[in-house]
Amino acid sequence: MRILLTGRNGQVGWELERKLAPLGEVIATDRATLDLADPDAIRRAAREAKPQVIVNAAAYTAVDQAESEPELAMQINGIAPGILADEAKRLGALLVHYSTDYVFDGEKATPYVEDDPPNPINVYGKTKLEGERAIQGFGCRHLILRTSWVYGPRGRNFLLTILRAARERPELRVVSDQVGAPTSSLAIARATGEILRQSSGRAVFTGIYHMSASGQATWYDFAVAILAEARLPTPIVPISSEQYPTAARRPGNSLLDNSKLAATVGTRLPSWREQLTGVMAELRRA
Ligand SMILES: NC(=O)c1ccc[n+]([C@@H]2O[C@H](COP(=O)([O-])OP(=O)(O)OC[C@H]3O[C@@H](n4cnc5c(N)ncnc54)[C@H](OP(=O)(O)O)[C@@H]3O)[C@@H](O)[C@H]2O)c1
Repeated sequence: MRILLTGRNGQVGWELERKLAPLGEVIATDRATLDLADPDAIRRAAREAKPQVIVNAAAYTAVDQAESEPELAMQINGIAPGILADEAKRLGALLVHYSTDYVFDGEKATPYVEDDPPNPINVYGKTKLEGERAIQGFGCRHLILRTSWVYGPRGRNFLLTILRAARERPELRVVSDQVGAPTSSLAIARATGEILRQSSGRAVFTGIYHMSASGQATWYDFAVAILAEARLPTPIVPISSEQYPTAARRPGNSLLDNSKLAATVGTRLPSWREQLTGVMAELRRA
């Protein structure tokens, strides 16, 4: 299987390059070798690589910055996935793409299923929804995997921010009124590899799937668990979203219902707590 991967230096992309390697040849690109803001570069890369599978792990993920750079965010998250989809269709390739819980407004009282109507409340969510729609519109074989609260041992993420802050500050204040499922980049990459292995590159499973960690936590719960794992005694005070203003609004409920993935593909990600223990062990080894 020949796989064209974008975003190799991102949290998920980095793990994917390693986890997909046993499946065949992985042509891994970064921003320097394939800039998603350049439509011609996307078409050129796809036509040169002639992959059976395109895995798009690149994205504009700076949620707050997106509020002041909506055009760039839309180019990368909304338009580029459509160009990848167009090329995938020409090649008869499967496009694997990642999306987000932020396509929802967070007003639902229970976890979101794939068919719930999206209603993003920030620019990032709007651009990611646009990307989903572009892919569906081009009609290539595709898998859109919506995940949430991604973190890992490298990159910019909540885990590393909390560990740094806990060493520098006498006390942390963390939002406790947003609920979701912290999902590790490693778990996402493993599950993606498993799905591709099962489908052997053919689009046995197509469409949108929710793929986040089992269980639920607030950012406060997540921070408490991180400090417990790291054995750091810094006190953490739970606060409301209102007490922590950000440029972009966040949904109150970010929970995704993963039943469809489990029922169709037989894949269920471990609990967020179990994933955290694994990532902390990797950090200790590094
Ligand atoms: N992070 C989350 O909490 C979260 C939550 C839900 C869903 N997701 C989705 O999961 C996927 C993977 O996210 P992640 O957390 O791994 O993101 P990440 O760590 O921010 O990595 C994104 C990668 O995309 C690359 N990129 C940005 N602009 C690019 C461009 N114009 N051309 C080529 N590459 C570009 C970045 O390159 P540079 O290294 O050069 O900046 C980076 O390597 C994304 O689709 C994201 O929307 C993420």
